[in-house]
Amino acid sequence: MKGVTIYTAGAALLALFIVKYILAGLLNPLSPIPGPWYTRFSTLPSKWHRLRGTKIVWVDSLHRRYGPIVRVDAGQVAIAEPAFWDAVGRVGGGFRKTPFHERIRIGPEHFLFSMTDAKAHAARRRLFARALTADALRRNWEPRWLRDVVGANKVIAEKGTIAVRNLRATGLDRPNLFSNMLAEAEKAPDGDGTGDDDVDGDAHRLTDDAIRSEVAGFLLAGSDTTSMALTYTVWAVLRHPDLQRRLEHELAGLPAAFSDRDLEALPLLGNVLDEALRLYSPGSPGILRLPPREGMTWRGYFIPGDTQVLAQQWTLVRDHALFPDPERFDETRFEQPAEGARRIA
Ligand code: HEM
Repeated sequence: MKGVTIYTAGAALLALFIVKYILAGLLNPLSPIPGPWYTRFSTLPSKWHRLRGTKIVWVDSLHRRYGPIVRVDAGQVAIAEPAFWDAVGRVGGGFRKTPFHERIRIGPEHFLFSMTDAKAHAARRRLFARALTADALRRNWEPRWLRDVVGANKVIAEKGTIAVRNLRATGLDRPNLFSNMLAEAEKAPDGDGTGDDDVDGDAHRLTDDAIRSEVAGFLLAGSDTTSMALTYTVWAVLRHPDLQRRLEHELAGLPAAFSDRDLEALPLLGNVLDEALRLYSPGSPGILRLPPREGMTWRGYFIPGDTQVLAQQWTLVRDHALFPDPERFDETRFEQPAEGARRIA
């Protein structure tokens, strides 16, 4: 009798759980958005694809089947439209970084990538803006930036404080990217000029820990991306002997002491790099964001503020209208790109 009661209670609990699960799925505000039926109930299929490394192609297949806006799971929507890509990238557009970004901690403090507070992020971007202009990068990037920051990175692992002190010292006579950022930070006002620890002021200041995190962040964000982009570019060129010959011919025309500007002016090299970045972008397959807090409406579908929205670049750069025969490596397509094509790739 006692056994029967336990079984009955267990079955009732299970039934309750299933009903709750089904109800949650049916009442999911994302329900009207096109997508496979199971994606309104669960995050498991998308997690499964993420673990297998197949999420990009899976979401791409959903777009091909259901259109430019699809429900990826019970809390995530993907949108593959140039206008949405623009909206997500617009400064002050109200899109917010996600808990995923916040979890990426590589140092004691948040760095640009992981800062989810829009105000603090904007202040940090402003702080770095001058050090990151094309002119500043040309002046300070190579070879000094590599030598000094690789040196700094080694010290970070051992004695972070010394690394920061080194950067401060380096700033005096041999400028590099980070010493310039430091100089900007030290010039920056404390927000309202009172010297108080107000929020704006804190965002402007760079503590030693913040510098350590930013240095590590730049190394992380800039190393694998660049090496992967170059690896794929070389691979793509080597697969096309005629392109390799033309590229070598273009490069052979450079003056002996060529500069960054000379390289930037080479049309074929520029087109090859653009095409390699389109097909083999080492960045994420898209950009993940939260919409503005009050939610947003896209193509008539309401998307609540706590939904993750994925701007699915992978699908956009394979859009037949913008990039005919999209899977083919074609360096000529950027000679006269379709309207909007360069913005997306
Ligand atoms: C081909 C090379 C690169 C690609 C495709 C790439 C791609 C991206 C993408 C897609 C994001 C946005 C990620 C997100 O918000 O979810 C991003 C952010 C970022 N990248 Fe890169 N990146 C490249 C190279 C670099 C390099 C060389 C550096 C620095 C030396 C760098 C530093 C950063 C930083 C600091 C952020 C965060 C920016 C912010 O949140 O304001 N990246 N990158």
